[in-house]
Amino acid sequence: MNQQLSIAVFASGRGSNFQALHQALIAANSAATIALCISNNPNPGAFDFARQQGIATARLSPKMFAEEKEYEAALIELLASHGVELIVLAGYMRRLPHGVVQRWRGKILNIHPALLPDFGGQGMYGLNVHQAVIAAGRTESGATVHLVDEEYDTGAIIAQERVPVLPDDTPETLAARVLEAEHRLLPRVVMEMVAGKR
Ligand code: GAR
Repeated sequence: MNQQLSIAVFASGRGSNFQALHQALIAANSAATIALCISNNPNPGAFDFARQQGIATARLSPKMFAEEKEYEAALIELLASHGVELIVLAGYMRRLPHGVVQRWRGKILNIHPALLPDFGGQGMYGLNVHQAVIAAGRTESGATVHLVDEEYDTGAIIAQERVPVLPDDTPETLAARVLEAEHRLLPRVVMEMVAGKR
């Protein structure tokens, strides 16, 4: 991958990983920029941040189209029109259409708030993940960045950062500790990809 690289971030909610990534790219004076923030939701927190930063936003959801194929075509057209080379799912709670995965295969990253392959798959998002980790009696959790394929959380693992699970953790306290790790891990992996080290 070259240095002049256009990134699309997909975010369903708050968008703190999106912010961490954007800030890290700026701080590193990276030529890679986030060209576009896409959400399935009409007004996620991520869009507020995008607007403050002058980053384009777009809502696209399968619900807005009669056919899945129309949704897929619209998404591909949108990404292509921004010259997107790298896609980052940062708190995105939907699967990408197959056509997008095929066209950008190997260039789509997801951040997951647990140590995959454990605690992944459909329904494993947000606090559900941390509840499951605590219920399983794990003493360690963390963040995973992986490549995206057609399924939930099954693509090749690229990097992980571990954090302890403490005896008095609630899903919320564990989520906060994992989130700090996410904010370090995601920018690091993206910048390594941009620099051609991944
Ligand atoms: C993050 O913890 C992210 O790992 C998780 O949602 C949160 C989004 O926070 N993603 C998933 O659970 C995907 N399966 P953010 O909107 O503040 O970045």
